[in-house]
Amino acid sequence: MLVLAIESSCDETAAAVVRDGRTVLSSIVASQVAIHAEYGGVVPEIASRRHLESVAPVVIEALKTAGVTLDEIKGIAVTQGPGLVGALLVGIAAARGIAAACSIPVTGVNHIEAHLLAPFLEQEIAFPYLALVVSGGHTHLYKVDGIGHYTILGQTLDDAAGEAFDKVAKLVGLPYPGGALIDRLAAEGDPVAVKLPRPLLHDGSCNFSFSGLKTAVLNWTQKNPEGKSGQLLNDLCASFQAAVCEVLTVKTWSALEKTGITRLVIAGGVACNSGLRREMSRLAATRGIDLYIPSPALCADNAAMVAVPGEFYLSRRIATINGFDALPSWPL
Ligand code: KG4
Ligand code: ZN
Repeated sequence: MLVLAIESSCDETAAAVVRDGRTVLSSIVASQVAIHAEYGGVVPEIASRRHLESVAPVVIEALKTAGVTLDEIKGIAVTQGPGLVGALLVGIAAARGIAAACSIPVTGVNHIEAHLLAPFLEQEIAFPYLALVVSGGHTHLYKVDGIGHYTILGQTLDDAAGEAFDKVAKLVGLPYPGGALIDRLAAEGDPVAVKLPRPLLHDGSCNFSFSGLKTAVLNWTQKNPEGKSGQLLNDLCASFQAAVCEVLTVKTWSALEKTGITRLVIAGGVACNSGLRREMSRLAATRGIDLYIPSPALCADNAAMVAVPGEFYLSRRIATINGFDALPSWPL
């Protein structure tokens, strides 16, 4: 089944054509990052306007790159939530419009579900597996028993991991979104140079908390103003990244041990982090866990991942939800 997928939950307008929920024929992403960088974060109103301008060209580009016409598309999958309400509405309206014009079915997809199924675009994974979804808006740990069968094991109690990266970057004067920049500077720094807390590390739960870590960085920069540049900044970035990675790794490992599951998926923008990939790979190798991390383009927001659950529900005629409102907070 050939599916056209559309994603517009935050600051990327994306469209993709995917065959049978597995083979990516095209995946186009128009990023608004440069526009929001001027404001130090995503401005919802600007995001909606940009989505409105970009959605038609991005869909046309996705069809052209895939070498298909709308007549060949058998269904449409669109991110229905969670995300920014105005941003989501643009993708949903576009999807509904195309579906009505072509008389084909359309289904709403949960953005977190799309992230945790993204690895299927590169390889098959047996169920059950554990999925750590770490992005700018989410830090969630799920047990995945099959498509549509998710049990939440833990989540952040405050900031998401990516949000913490971005806020710390802003504190030290790095442009938005700072996650990838911190990753780059951390490579030149000493991860034990700045002593930072590991919130909730041994509380026995699978929950996370990152806001105290961000406050610890703020306090440190106030005492060490010279730490906002040069080698000290590299050391701060390395120490912060090490703290986030340790918490994510230890908590995920304790969830694997508790559940006895031996397969792990890490997805979302923060799954691009080199420290996290390295640490998780090292542990997986020593403990016999099968680790699946999508390639960076499939970790960050994209529409191809939306087609994985989309095709599953469309081909089985399963209605994921009723109605077509945007669902800004839609727990999976
Ligand atoms: O999944 P994503 O593209 O969008 C959301 O659904 O939020 O994730 C974006 C987040 C941002 O917070 C960004 O700073 C972070 O992922 N990120 C990284 C890296 N690359 C992107 N964080 C740490 N290290 C990276 N290499
Ligand atoms: Zn995302």
